[in-house]
Amino acid sequence: MQSIIYKNTRADFYLADCLETLKKLSSDSVDLIITSPPYSDQRKLTYGGIHPDEYVEWFLPKAEELLRVLKPTGTFILNIKEKVINGERHTYVIDLIQALRKQGWLWTEEFIWHKRNCHPGKWPNRFRDSWERLLQFNKTKNFNMYQEAVMVPIGNWAKTRLKNLSETDKRRDNSKVGSGFGKNISNWVGKELVYPSNVLHLATESSNKSHSATFPLSLPSWFIKLFTKEGDVVLDPFLGSGTTSIAASLLGINSIGIEILQEYYNIAIDRFSEETGKKNPVVEGKITNGEQKFSENQLLFLYG
Ligand SMILES: C[S@@+](CC[C@H](N)C(=O)[O-])C[C@H]1O[C@@H](n2cnc3c(N)ncnc32)[C@H](O)[C@@H]1O
Repeated sequence: MQSIIYKNTRADFYLADCLETLKKLSSDSVDLIITSPPYSDQRKLTYGGIHPDEYVEWFLPKAEELLRVLKPTGTFILNIKEKVINGERHTYVIDLIQALRKQGWLWTEEFIWHKRNCHPGKWPNRFRDSWERLLQFNKTKNFNMYQEAVMVPIGNWAKTRLKNLSETDKRRDNSKVGSGFGKNISNWVGKELVYPSNVLHLATESSNKSHSATFPLSLPSWFIKLFTKEGDVVLDPFLGSGTTSIAASLLGINSIGIEILQEYYNIAIDRFSEETGKKNPVVEGKITNGEQKFSENQLLFLYG
């Protein structure tokens, strides 16, 4: 295990099977888990894989530990997508959602990551796949959420739409289909920022060639802003090339990353140093902060 400590934040990197490392972490100690596990055996040539029929069985013991280490106010974001087998979508993601609910998780929300720059292609029986799921699970309904942190500009539509308001626009206009929803358009006059939707339009990043399945930095960054504040801890149990740790560090949030393969573990630490600018580590020796959840003989790298 290596820790990179910078001013008030730290990033811990474990080279291990996440199931083993998770067992060593304290209960109720993590504020946000965001991860992209192997999507069954989609990339078995690079980092192995799990047969879709065995996916739920493989994932559940890890999820049990994730449930234990997450704080009651915390959130778990799972980036996943079902693969196509024999011409149809396998149901392991749907099966997993049901199994996680039985395990005690609340399935609070589903976000869609729309890959803005997805390459065009031609398949005989389907169109190009340009989105992935980000499933949100919680332990309780009272989880921390900092919605103001991800507000977006209202957009040019507002300039024309809000210029001449009708009488209906000036009062709450309830839905005609009886959904219970209503809107008062005049509330938006003078507003520069609005809340986003649950569809994230983010480009994939092809510049990182060192790992075959990285997610873009903007993806964990968005969820870290939404679900954490200064001093919190983000965990990625399937760290890959370290994107989550980099995003957390750039936002001043502590992180714990676990990666099973030496090659990716090394890449994650190198990338972290390069992209966060926390270079030229000075080996300081043993950690002396007395936190028993971290091993005693870990290396401590001090920057800045
Ligand atoms: C989809 S990739 C994650 C990519 C990452 N989000 C990024 O941006 O680079 C999944 C990673 O999980 C790792 N992995 C697979 N099984 C694991 C396990 N049991 N414990 C820890 N890591 C594991 C794989 O080696 C792979 O690097």
